[in-house]
Amino acid sequence: MTKGNFYITTPIYYPSDKLHIGHSYTTVAADAMARYKRLKGFDVMFLTGTDEHGQKIQRIADEKGVTPKAYVDNIVGGIKKLWELMKISNDKFIRTTDPYHERAVQKIFKRLYDQGDIYKSEYEGWYCTPCESFWTQTQLNDNKCPDCGRPVELTKEESYFFRLSKYQNALIQYIEEHPEFIQPESRRNEMMNNFLKVGLEDLCVSRTTFDWGIPVEFDKGHVVYVWIDALSNYITALGYLSEDESLFEKFWPANVHLVGKEIVRFHTIIWPAMLMALGLPLPKQVFGHGWLVLAGGKMSKSKGNVVDPVVLVKKYGLDAIRYFLLREVPFGSDGLFSNEALIGRINADLANDLGNLVSRTVAMIDKYFDGIIPDERAEGDFDQDLMETVLAAPAKVDEKMDSLEFSAALVEIWKAISRTNKYIDETAPWLLAKDESQKPRLAQVMYNLAESIRIVSVLIQPFMVETPEKIWEQLGILDAKETQWDSVYSWGGYQSGNRVQKGVVLFPRIDLEQEMEDLSKLETGKDLSKQKKAGKKTDHQEKEEKKEQEDSLITIDDFAKIQFRTVTVIEAEKVEGADKLLKLKVRMGDEVRQVVSGIAKYYTPEEIIGKNLILVANLKPVKLRGIESQGMILAASDDNTLSLVTLDKALQSGLKVT
Ligand code: MSP
Repeated sequence: MTKGNFYITTPIYYPSDKLHIGHSYTTVAADAMARYKRLKGFDVMFLTGTDEHGQKIQRIADEKGVTPKAYVDNIVGGIKKLWELMKISNDKFIRTTDPYHERAVQKIFKRLYDQGDIYKSEYEGWYCTPCESFWTQTQLNDNKCPDCGRPVELTKEESYFFRLSKYQNALIQYIEEHPEFIQPESRRNEMMNNFLKVGLEDLCVSRTTFDWGIPVEFDKGHVVYVWIDALSNYITALGYLSEDESLFEKFWPANVHLVGKEIVRFHTIIWPAMLMALGLPLPKQVFGHGWLVLAGGKMSKSKGNVVDPVVLVKKYGLDAIRYFLLREVPFGSDGLFSNEALIGRINADLANDLGNLVSRTVAMIDKYFDGIIPDERAEGDFDQDLMETVLAAPAKVDEKMDSLEFSAALVEIWKAISRTNKYIDETAPWLLAKDESQKPRLAQVMYNLAESIRIVSVLIQPFMVETPEKIWEQLGILDAKETQWDSVYSWGGYQSGNRVQKGVVLFPRIDLEQEMEDLSKLETGKDLSKQKKAGKKTDHQEKEEKKEQEDSLITIDDFAKIQFRTVTVIEAEKVEGADKLLKLKVRMGDEVRQVVSGIAKYYTPEEIIGKNLILVANLKPVKLRGIESQGMILAASDDNTLSLVTLDKALQSGLKVT
């Protein structure tokens, strides 16, 4: 029995032969959500695809001397392979070059024209080819594209326009009445204040200067220009305006469109206005997630292997990558992607917390009971608390998933894992094993461990796609009943006749230092160990320190009381209601600290992410505006400006600063 229908989409991707790990972010998140809803019993439609028209594609194809279609066919094949490699469970893949899509877009265009929502006029403005965006003179930044900073071209041509301005008030009213429509809230405020309330201009929706697009059927010199073509995919994929609209009737309106923050505007202004014009209901939610950036800049600028999803999956394993993407950064925020952080997570959360728990448990059941936990069992201390903590996880995961808080959902699962690891320490099975009379107690401890792991293995299924089965194999779980989502809300699903089987190490530990050196060679040919040596004190520094002691300002012992550590900023956001404060998450080796810093006037959250800073790490935590600050970052300032103390060479985080 189905619990209902659930329709989730990713944006359709521009065909690029260099999709980086940031691109897989939206898709992995949508996949986790689709898997979760299927596990919960929903009938799911998960759509992804490619956005293949436009001048940029035409230019690249011309340069390569192939037709645009041949060019995109080749690249789309690669994108599909990437999603297969990442085990993306999309139900449908739409290409905007699919004939059924092209026909439906022509009908949409005609309908909007016939009813007066599209009209013909003349367009004059600035065009950024790489971004496929038009800009007015006032929108330009230093005469360059305000989005990408590249040169723009002045264009003047006959065009069709969509009456976006007509829908301004209806959109404002809709968004005010449906606070859940644009999420997170900060994006809703941005759309309202920066666009809707400023005023909407009609939108240019056809072009005549290139022909790689869907022809406007009643005016052959024109092709449909980008957004009407691209956004319609969400309904044409369901058969809208085709002979068979049954999927459209079943799944529209979508439950959620997941999009990166830079395209929230198109999805929350142009798209709903188009739907209003077509008399269709609006999607229930558009969720604008943040960007993954690299220390030192945008991912798209990196040509490196370290951001290539194929390389990363092959090197670290699919589940490690999927886990990292969903765990490291809260879904709405920007965050830092670094190999160091990835390895930190693999070692701490996966190899240590989860992997060890499974292998220790299986090894103990194997050793103490030849692989099968006996039925004669005795309860004891710590059992109750273990059960309560582990059984609290499913409801919390449900709650977090419903609000697309993937990272928070994983945190809840890891609380259950940590509690189970602690249970091993508390019950000390190796001591029970020495005493024959404690066998029933030992059996109960083993059962509780196996049952906790079973519950965890079911809960991680939306996020990880290979590990759950590996765990079931090791726990000897054969009955599908034990792996269903519904089975994790009560204790006792693990069948005691199951025979455990020692298996492969789920997540091998990675030697961070060695790996970073290998990666730096792979990436730049440089040897990190040299940089490390360069981080040592210079003669000059040593002399300075000596001089200070001699001047008896403070002694070296006084100085040594302060622990300065290198940290890397992985998240940053403004503190609401405090215009001076930024809330930062900084990585310090394996640890992540939260720091509140009075630098908001001098640094935007975006520009501070990825910076390597110095933290006073042993400062007593304080609360600023109710938010705990675990340390202080160093900065210098004069009357006008403030500058953070940064490292001028790439060093790992967590190093002592001496
Ligand atoms: N074709 C448009 C979308 C049209 S939808 C009707 C497009 N394509 S894209 O290929 O440029 O981007 C696809 C998705 O990848 C977007 O959601 C975008 O935000 C996401 N990402 C691309 N780089 C990213 C990061 N570095 N980090 C996170 N997501 C990013 O936009």
